[in-house]
Amino acid sequence: MRFISGFLVAILLILIAGALFVWSGAYNVAADVPHWKATSAVLEIARERSIDNHSDGISPPPLDDPELLESGFHHFHPMCRMCHGAPGYERLEFAKGLYPNPPDLTTDHIVEEFTDAQLYWIIENGLKMTGMPAFGPTHKEDELWGLVAVLKKLPQMTPEEYRAEVGAHGQEGQMGGHHGQTGDANSGHSYGQEEQAAAFESDSPQEQGSAREEVQSEGTDSAQPEGHSHDDDHAH
Ligand code: HEC
Repeated sequence: MRFISGFLVAILLILIAGALFVWSGAYNVAADVPHWKATSAVLEIARERSIDNHSDGISPPPLDDPELLESGFHHFHPMCRMCHGAPGYERLEFAKGLYPNPPDLTTDHIVEEFTDAQLYWIIENGLKMTGMPAFGPTHKEDELWGLVAVLKKLPQMTPEEYRAEVGAHGQEGQMGGHHGQTGDANSGHSYGQEEQAAAFESDSPQEQGSAREEVQSEGTDSAQPEGHSHDDDHAH
């Protein structure tokens, strides 16, 4: 009996100490101060196990479908490249200050570490407390699979091949306009014309100055409300 009450008092004291620590503000939430090693290790295991568990039962369609790939490139360039980079494209400045840092998706680790179903789940649901957004609420299933198809291709792509893919689709996007006058589903993306121009017209993407990059992120912000309407007229 005595042992049990001693144990309960110890637990109570730990809870009170924990509450005081949280309330005191001593914990530093700054993004430029890394987690303790132990916290990182626990988060890493939680992430791995969670992705594994939640992606169970998702079955991928054939990912070599050219249409899927085309739609994937069309979405990858404006939605993922800013944070993750792409062949020949550096991450934008803001992404370098994110904690955890968005990983480079052009290395083999993507294909080696994750199954297609796991990649789909990550893109669909995002990753809590990391800055990795959930794209499921705004995109259709085949669009998300298109992104998985792109991820599988990126590690073998040269910057020239990548630019050829996104350059071609970028032009379609610009000519189509925003509200589907042409009935072209590719036309309704949520990015300003200036951003597309900046993203697709530069001859040396790697050397783009930070000023241009900043204009791009501003373009993204201001085009956001208008862009949301595109979900309705997206045909693929
Ligand atoms: C705002 C920045 C941001 C954007 C935009 C973004 N991501 Fe991420 N993404 C992250 C961060 C940060 C992580 C790292 C999470 C972690 O370490 O747990 C991540 C992780 C991932 C991972 C897991 C990779 C790994 O090695 O752990 C995949 C796959 C991924 N993102 C795909 C995408 C795709 C595809 C898109 C576009 C549809 C995208 N991301 C857009 C920030 C972003």
